[in-house]
Amino acid sequence: QTGMFTYDPGFTSTAACESAITYIDGDKGELLYRGYPIDQLAEKSHYLEVCYLLLYAELPTAAQLEDFEARVTRHTMLHEQMVNFYRGFRRDAHPMAVVCGVVGAMSAFYHDSTDINDPWQREVASIRMIAKLPTIAAWAYKYSIGQPFVYPRNDLDYAANFLHMCFATPCEEYVVDPILSRAMDRIFTLHADHEQNASTSTVRLAGSSQANPFACIAAGVACLWGPAHGGANEAALAMLREIGAPERIPEFIARAKDKDDPFRLMGFGHRVYKNFDPRAKVMKQSADEVLGLLGIENNPTLQVAKELEKIALEDSYFVDRKLYPNVDFYSGIILDAIGFPTSMFTAIFALSRTVGWIAQWKEMIEDPEGRIGRPRQLYTGAPSRDYSDVETR
Ligand code: SDX
Repeated sequence: QTGMFTYDPGFTSTAACESAITYIDGDKGELLYRGYPIDQLAEKSHYLEVCYLLLYAELPTAAQLEDFEARVTRHTMLHEQMVNFYRGFRRDAHPMAVVCGVVGAMSAFYHDSTDINDPWQREVASIRMIAKLPTIAAWAYKYSIGQPFVYPRNDLDYAANFLHMCFATPCEEYVVDPILSRAMDRIFTLHADHEQNASTSTVRLAGSSQANPFACIAAGVACLWGPAHGGANEAALAMLREIGAPERIPEFIARAKDKDDPFRLMGFGHRVYKNFDPRAKVMKQSADEVLGLLGIENNPTLQVAKELEKIALEDSYFVDRKLYPNVDFYSGIILDAIGFPTSMFTAIFALSRTVGWIAQWKEMIEDPEGRIGRPRQLYTGAPSRDYSDVETR
């Protein structure tokens, strides 16, 4: 029994930690951020308010929210010397390689917020990362397309600022479409935290050694990049595009079921959810809304995604294994409609998840019982034996 939740002994023995931040019920398809259902937050809140909730455990008052948003806004610029850091990458470097490198480099530029034992330095590091990740990700995109960096603007909200840094150029005014900005903000919220997933567990384990927060978040970025994890949004859209038309879906369903074929339906299945991922439901509604408002509701990729979901959820292979669309199945369709290349999808997942990583890192660091993580193993190697000289082998 922990708080309002009762766990069976089998579960508690496998739990990596106790946490009060995010709750998932995989069977019900339920996701709560500090007790608030994800669909309510996606509809009624906005990303920086969700960041406040995840970091400080309660929804902010108007004054608290205004102060928090002002502090984040004032930290969106990077140290100017970091511009040179980008130039060390090849133009065709994957944006996740750049984001991972630049986030790790922050520990070399922001010495005054790396002492994890100083609560104020932990707070400053947290605000800096939430504020700067959109700039870091936007500049990785600009660098990859050979366009000049666009600096953050304090008159734009968080999502609009990110879109402006990605799509504005010095040649003409770029006015952020509020439809796209709202869709972007909702994607940030849906990806903000997700309990002890692989990348969050990576951040907690790295942080347990008392490494500086920037290095820990860089470790999380690296882990998220994998196609089995955050890289699935990029792979899911590529898969939907490869399918191309509803009549080709059976061919891919057959491949996904074929044990001899490594192909899996990207954006399908989840280690915890054995029901619909609640984020996928909101994402699907958002895709319908955004593409409808943009007048591209007949987008072939969205039609293929909906038909693929329908066919898969009527197929016993997927039903028996409780494989449902996850957060990555529809997100790429929205990001593509906003104008991003698939190479930016996981970088956007990373900037969204930064607040979750930080909230979980702070919770772990501030635990007075906290110790360095040290997972054990079941040894399956050779028994003890004596060394033999090479001549005798
Ligand atoms: C994220 O942990 C998190 O919370 C992560 C995340 C977050 O917000 O942080 O939610 C974000 O990472 C979502 C997941 C994104 N990844 C993908 O969409 C990649 C495709 N999905 C799979 O690779 C897979 O479903 C996983 C990795 C997501 C989950 O793998 P599991 O729980 O280890 O499941 P499994 O590999 O044990 O599969 C169980 C069965 C197997 O078949 P059998 O051996 O029983 O015959 O289901 C099959 C698998 O072959 N299966 C699939 C499948 N996923 C599982 N078959 C076809 N297509 C799939 N997508």
